[in-house]
Amino acid sequence: MEGISRQTVRDYIANGISTIKGMSSTISAQVVALLIEAQTESGINGPVMEIGVFEGRMFVLMALASEPGEKLFALDTFRHPDDHQIDRFRANLDRFGIDKSRVIEKKGSSIDHGPWKLRQEMGVPARFIHIDGDHSYNGVMHDLMISHKCMSDSAIICMDDVMHPYYPGLTLAVHDYLRANPSLAVFAVVDRASIVAASKYMICHRSKLEFYQAIIQDRIGNHIRHTQGDFMTNRALIVMPDAQKR
Ligand SMILES: C[S@@+](CC[C@H](N)C(=O)[O-])C[C@H]1O[C@@H](n2cnc3c(N)ncnc32)[C@H](O)[C@@H]1O
Repeated sequence: MEGISRQTVRDYIANGISTIKGMSSTISAQVVALLIEAQTESGINGPVMEIGVFEGRMFVLMALASEPGEKLFALDTFRHPDDHQIDRFRANLDRFGIDKSRVIEKKGSSIDHGPWKLRQEMGVPARFIHIDGDHSYNGVMHDLMISHKCMSDSAIICMDDVMHPYYPGLTLAVHDYLRANPSLAVFAVVDRASIVAASKYMICHRSKLEFYQAIIQDRIGNHIRHTQGDFMTNRALIVMPDAQKR
């Protein structure tokens, strides 16, 4: 059963993830899985949401790593690059045995979703949210806002593609949002393949900063760079595949 077998998650990272189109790296998949598993061990539960699921590469991982009873919110226009995107997404869920009754598909632009209705549908606030949809400044500001309003006090927002040279508006939006909302903090920056390509920011409520940093130190300490990211109000761990060598 999904959520129960850690081996299923490891197998998916080792062999399954590369069979679904998408960009997320192995290291970011490992970090996402270990954080969701650590949340479960610490009694942190709730729905999981992804804005921009594409064909399900990260979504399947989050589904496998979370608990069987937890809802999975999938937001996407489902028109990228054609109207059959949703069929490929659903086929991938089937292929990896994801229980479809957990999945709430929201077809259309995330800009059309307000936080209150989403939060109401969730029942309880979300524990993990991956943002990887509209990469424009306004789109990211909106997606951060709805995620912020839907997250629990112990939740994580994982923001993709920060510092990607193609998406300066995304990077500006993330930093503007963080500056305007100092109760949120980046606890780790996870490298894709090279730190200059793009990173995922792992964001939590500031009160949970040390809690999540300790989890990463404990479980994946060999991937932490010696130098930390200076966010002025706190330092973030830098997690990368060959951290000790660089
Ligand atoms: C980079 S892909 C996501 C990759 C995916 N997270 C994965 O793990 O493979 C971006 C996705 O965002 C979706 N998207 C773009 N603009 C959007 C919007 N305004 N609302 C919802 N989804 C959007 C696209 O349809 C596309 O599927």
